[in-house]
Amino acid sequence: MANLPTPIRPLARLAEALGSPALDLLVKLDSETGFGLGGNKVRKLEFELAPDRLEGITCLITAGGPQSNHCRVTAAAAARLGLRCVLIVNGPEPETPTGNALLHRLFGAEIVTVPERQDRSTQLQSTAVDIELEGGHPLVIPIGASTGLGSLGYAAASIELFKQLTNQKPPPERTVVFVASSSCGTLAGLLLGISLLKLNHVLLVGVSADMSATEIEERTKQIACEGADLLRWNGPLLMDSIKTIDDQVGGGYGLSTAASHEALRMFALHEGLVLDPTYTAKAAAGLISWVRTGMVSDLDRVVFLHTGGHPGLFT
Ligand SMILES: Cc1ncc(COP(=O)(O)O)c(C=O)c1O
Repeated sequence: MANLPTPIRPLARLAEALGSPALDLLVKLDSETGFGLGGNKVRKLEFELAPDRLEGITCLITAGGPQSNHCRVTAAAAARLGLRCVLIVNGPEPETPTGNALLHRLFGAEIVTVPERQDRSTQLQSTAVDIELEGGHPLVIPIGASTGLGSLGYAAASIELFKQLTNQKPPPERTVVFVASSSCGTLAGLLLGISLLKLNHVLLVGVSADMSATEIEERTKQIACEGADLLRWNGPLLMDSIKTIDDQVGGGYGLSTAASHEALRMFALHEGLVLDPTYTAKAAAGLISWVRTGMVSDLDRVVFLHTGGHPGLFT
């Protein structure tokens, strides 16, 4: 499904606008994985929807928020595979669906709504049972495809990224990668990837979109361990190479802050790049704050991993 490798390119004008013209600042555009309007979910679903897992499957079921990027790509994959798709979504049925909510429907998914976020997992299981009782064969994909298996998509992405970076000159003292984190499969896969490659000059900064930094760290470690088990790899995970931060969450999930708003505008104005308000604008705000406060310097190479989410801008 994914168009790989995704491009990587300098953000020289942004570095200049931030008052750090000598900063080696780059973006890796996983917003351009392509399928179903792209983003990070495509890489994770490539593994969740591997051909041997689809044998005999008639329906994909997953869950998310009303503007879920993960639900969008799952629905697009179901359409492409000729499978039924059921999405468990919290919140009321929108009168006029926009953004991802519109795309969920356009890709032909059936939507089952539940009142609250915490109701989704139970409904996911009970819908799967109902479909089996009707004679169908569902494949349940956990929220965000953030499983050990899904994380392998980002272990592979890590390898892809560092292969691209070795073509750049000269190697810096430290490479700092900023990525938006929520269900943690992306960060977990990146952690697994750098651990496999034994890259101890890397710092992965997971910028939370909702949970506390501690929750993000614990969940990331758990998923990375599951991924390592699948690979039958028991080498050490480089836990000191991740830093999770929750100082950009502001009022909560999906709510813009002054800093995320500024980040969205700066990426657009100086680089012609579109961020999304829920995830990538907050991760970019984290990056900007680290540049301004000297947490990264001209001795570092700084990579912003753009995880997509564009439809969220049109809501
Ligand atoms: C655009 C975007 N960026 C980042 C994330 C965070 O990725 P993960 O759920 O793997 O932590 C998500 C999904 O939650 C997303 O949709």
